[in-house]
Amino acid sequence: MSIRFLKHMDVKGKRLLIRVDFNVPMDQGVIREDMRIRASLPTLQTALEQGASLVLCSHMGSPKGQVIPELSLKPAAEHLAGLLGKPVLMAPDCIGPEVEKMAQTLQPGQILMLENLRFHPGETKNDPEFCRQLARLGEIYVNDAFGTSHRAHASTTGVAAHFSQCCAGLLMQKEWEYLGLTLADPQRPYVAISGGAKVSTKLGVLHNLLDKVDRLIIGGAMANTFIKSLGFAVGISLVENDLLDEARKIMEKAKAKDVALYLPVDFVFAPDPKAQAAGVCPYQNVPADQMILDIGPATQVLFAEVLATAGTAVWNGPMGAFENPDFAQGSLTVAKAVAENARVSIVGGGDTDAMLHAAKMADKVSFISTGGGAFLEFMEGKELPAFKALRECSK
Ligand code: 3PG
Repeated sequence: MSIRFLKHMDVKGKRLLIRVDFNVPMDQGVIREDMRIRASLPTLQTALEQGASLVLCSHMGSPKGQVIPELSLKPAAEHLAGLLGKPVLMAPDCIGPEVEKMAQTLQPGQILMLENLRFHPGETKNDPEFCRQLARLGEIYVNDAFGTSHRAHASTTGVAAHFSQCCAGLLMQKEWEYLGLTLADPQRPYVAISGGAKVSTKLGVLHNLLDKVDRLIIGGAMANTFIKSLGFAVGISLVENDLLDEARKIMEKAKAKDVALYLPVDFVFAPDPKAQAAGVCPYQNVPADQMILDIGPATQVLFAEVLATAGTAVWNGPMGAFENPDFAQGSLTVAKAVAENARVSIVGGGDTDAMLHAAKMADKVSFISTGGGAFLEFMEGKELPAFKALRECSK
């Protein structure tokens, strides 16, 4: 894939339209977690140092083409101004004559934040006229919104065709280098850890991983479906009964591909996720009135041993209902084992990232992806629409 990156561009004196992903968790105008805003700083600082002016665009939430004041990007602009230590102008909209005037009068070193792209229906519809209007705001298009790269929207795909110069920003470049290049030639053994609630959301990922990894660890509530497909009862635990056959097929494929597949051998259980832990049981003996809520201590030892010799580890999805500290230990153990053992460790998804921080291991992993859905689709082996648009624009 020949994509141009920011380092290939001469941006001095140019106005850059930069698609960032500032879709951060917010409560009544207060940003609760700013990882994605911080992750955009290298691109913004590099472009500013080189004498560009910046027009930033992003979505926030899903306003479905309506103006919803609670989903304004103003708090993100203010937060960014604090991080950069310089003013960030806020536009009243993301297209239109007034915004165009603001963009055109920007001086090198100045930054304009556009209002939420999804206040217009044209954004998610990839509407040609919306793309045209958005494109008028910059001279070079930069996409640095990995978290949204799985969406074929105006600001991530359609707009690119209107520019003669396009490139990926530094955040996109890093995601591409780790998820694309590093994982194309992984250090072995290559171990993947897949957790979270549902097999259904990970089917594509699991199938694709089985073509690539040496070992596959399955934890979280999705492991319940595998345990049940082997003929064991899982009490009142979350389980996808319509995917029992699919779980068997995945295990057969692992065998055929010579991939060692690891399931939990014991569990921590309770009557519900908000209750205190009620006990530990082997996988064959889950009590009929109890719910599996975390991997048990023997499984923690097993998974840590599997990870102890990993050349590359890729982890997505928690091992249990970690929001309750009684069921967080499995995920914390995996976080530690991934970060401390694997020579290359790559982690994706918001919950997984939260576990790494809780285990104080975030600075010990090689790379934390800023993508949730985008990370998973990348791991399915798909070419994401935003990368395709950049590739086509670079021809
Ligand atoms: C995300 O949070 O995963 C991205 O910002 C994409 O958001 P979306 O799921 O609303 O398209």
